[in-house]
Amino acid sequence: MAPASEPVLTSDRALVIITTELRGYVAPCGCTSNPLGGIAKLAQLVADKKRSHGEPMIVTAGNFLFESGASKATTLEQDEARARVVAEVYRDAGVLAQTPGPFDLMHGGGKLVRELKNPWLEDGAVVSQRAAELNVAFIGVRAPPFDPRALVVKVALARERNDAVVALTSLDWPQARALAQAVPDLDVVIAAAAGEPHAPQRLGGTLIVDAGEQGQRVGLLELVRGATAGSKRWAYYDGGALELSQLQRQLAAAESEIAALPKNVDPALKNLQMGRREDLARQIAELQNKPPPPPKERYLRYSLVPLTKKMPDDKSALAKMKAYNATLCESSKRATEGLECEKAPPGAPSYIGSAACGSCHAPALAQWKTTKHAHAVETLEEAGKLCDLSCIGCHTTGFNAAGGFCSPQKIGALPDVGCESCHGPGSIHAKTTKTEAPFVKAPGEALCLQCHTKEHSDLFDFKTYRPKILGPGHGAK
Ligand code: HEC
Ligand code: HEC
Ligand code: HEC
Ligand code: HEC
Repeated sequence: MAPASEPVLTSDRALVIITTELRGYVAPCGCTSNPLGGIAKLAQLVADKKRSHGEPMIVTAGNFLFESGASKATTLEQDEARARVVAEVYRDAGVLAQTPGPFDLMHGGGKLVRELKNPWLEDGAVVSQRAAELNVAFIGVRAPPFDPRALVVKVALARERNDAVVALTSLDWPQARALAQAVPDLDVVIAAAAGEPHAPQRLGGTLIVDAGEQGQRVGLLELVRGATAGSKRWAYYDGGALELSQLQRQLAAAESEIAALPKNVDPALKNLQMGRREDLARQIAELQNKPPPPPKERYLRYSLVPLTKKMPDDKSALAKMKAYNATLCESSKRATEGLECEKAPPGAPSYIGSAACGSCHAPALAQWKTTKHAHAVETLEEAGKLCDLSCIGCHTTGFNAAGGFCSPQKIGALPDVGCESCHGPGSIHAKTTKTEAPFVKAPGEALCLQCHTKEHSDLFDFKTYRPKILGPGHGAK
C-alpha cells in the first residue's frame, strides 16, 4: 500500500511535481546517516507518476544549475558539466517550466541558461497545460522587485482562460508572501528558499509552498476537481496535518511540564496535568484514525516526499551520472595540472604524509590504520568520486593548503584523513621533534568540525566520536 502522504490514483486531479533550489545537486554525497535526494530518484518518481497520473506537470523554481553565482577557475568545468547533466535529466523527464534563480543567471553571465534548451520561464511569461480536465497556468516571477500592477493584470488574464494560476518564482519565503499579498488572485505561489522546506501557508486565497533545497524532497501539488462546482477559488485540504502537528506540539509541551513538576507537588494539580496529556493523546489518535474528509468543492493538496536512499533510480539518469563521474579525472587534470601548488611560507611547515610520521610513531600509525579516516580515499574511489573537486578536500590531507597538494593527480603521500589533517603540517616537527604551535599536539573539536559539518556528518558529537579515533598506541591513556 502507498504511504498516506502519497496521492491516490484517480483521474479527478492534476498533479504538479515541484523541485526548488536544486542547485546543481545530482546526488547526495553519501556522507550522512540518511542521505536524501538524487536526480535519478526524481526521474524514477516522475516515471511512476506518469503511469499513475497521465500528465504530471514538472516544474522547478529558483537556483537550478548552480550553488553559487561563480565557480573557482579549477572547478568551473566540473560545475558546468554537472549542471548539464541536471538539465538533461529534467528535459528527459519532460519538465514543463523552470524559473531560474539568481545564481543561474549570474554564473558565467547566464551563459548556460541561454545555451541549454530547457523550458525557462521568462519574467511575467505564462505557460499552461491541461490535465484531468483542468487548465493550469504558470506565470514566471524571476526576481524582486516584481511589478505588482503588471502581474495583477497578467494573472487576471490568465485566470480567464485557466482553472488555476500558479506563480513559479525565484523568490524567498518573505518575498513570496509579499507576492501573495500584492497579487491575491494567484492560487499558488511556489517559493524558492534555501534550507529546510517551510510548512505550506495560506494567505487569503493563495497557497504558498516550497520544497526545500538540493532536491532532497519533491513537492507534490494536487489540484482536485471536486464533486460540486464550487467558487472560483480553491479550498485547501491537508488531511488534518496542521491540526495534528499543533496537537503534537501541545502534547510535547504537556509532557515536559509534567516531567518538570516537583516531587512534592499537589496531587490534584498533577492529576489535572495528566488528564490534559491523556486528552491530547486521545485527540491525536482520533485524528490519525479518522482524518477530516476532503472538501466537496475543488481543492488543493500539497505533500513533500523525501527522496530516500532506498527509493529506486531511473536507469538512464543513473547512466548519465556515471558518464559524468567518468569525466572527472580528465576535467580535474585539465583544470589543475598546470597549477603550482601553494608552497609553505619560509619558516612554516609543509605536509610530509602519514607514512613519514609513522617512521617515529609506529604504534600511532598502526592504530590510525584501524580507523575509518585511513580509508577515506577508498570511499571516494568506490563512489567514482576520487577526482571530484567538491569531495576531495575532506577525504584527503592538505588539499589546497599551503605546503599541501592541489590536484587529484598529485595526492602522492597525502591520501585519506592522515595524521596532519589533525596535527597540522609536520615537516618541521619531523626534523626537530618540537611540538610547539603551529603544530597541533592535542587536536580539539573545532578541528574536527572543519570536515564534520552538519551537512556532512549529521551525527557528529565530539564526546562520542573522539574515543573512536584513539586507541592503544594513539592517545589512549
Ligand atoms: C565538508 C567535508 C566533506 C566533504 C566536502 C565530503 N565529505 Fe564525505 N564525509 C565527510 C565526513 C566528515 C564523513 C563521516 C561522517 C560521519 O560518519 O559522521 C564522510 C563520509 C562519507 C561517506 C560514508 C563513508 C562510510 O564509511 O560510510 C561517503 C560515501 C562519502 N563521505 C562520500 C563523499 C563524496 C562522494 C563527496 C563529494 C560529493 C564527499 N563525501 C564530500 C566529510 C566530507
Ligand atoms: C624523527 C622522528 C619523528 C617524526 C618523523 C615525527 N615525530 Fe612526532 N614526536 C617525535 C618525538 C621524539 C616526540 C616527543 C617530543 C616531546 O615530547 O617533546 C614527538 C611528539 C609528537 C606528538 C606529541 C605527543 C605528546 O603528547 O607529547 C605528536 C602529536 C606527534 N609527535 C605527531 C607527529 C606527527 C603527526 C608526525 C608526522 C607529521 C610526527 N609526529 C613525526 C618524533 C617524531
Ligand atoms: C580532513 C577532514 C576531517 C577531519 C579534520 C576529521 N575528520 Fe573524521 N572523518 C572524515 C571523513 C572523510 C570520514 C569518513 C571516512 C570514510 O569512512 O571514508 C570521517 C570519519 C570519522 C569517524 C568515523 C565515523 C563512523 O561512521 O564510524 C569518526 C569517529 C571521526 N571521523 C572522528 C573525528 C574526530 C573526533 C575528529 C577531530 C579530532 C575528526 N574526525 C576530524 C574527515 C575528517
Ligand atoms: C582525526 C584526528 C587525528 C588523526 C587523523 C591523528 N591523530 Fe594523533 N591525536 C589526535 C587526538 C585527538 C589525540 C589526543 C590528544 C590529547 O591528548 O588530547 C592525538 C594524540 C596523538 C599523539 C600523542 C599521544 C600518544 O599516544 O602518543 C601522537 C604521538 C599522535 N597523536 C600521532 C599521530 C600520528 C602519527 C597520526 C597518523 C598516523 C595521528 N596522530 C593521526 C587526533 C588525531
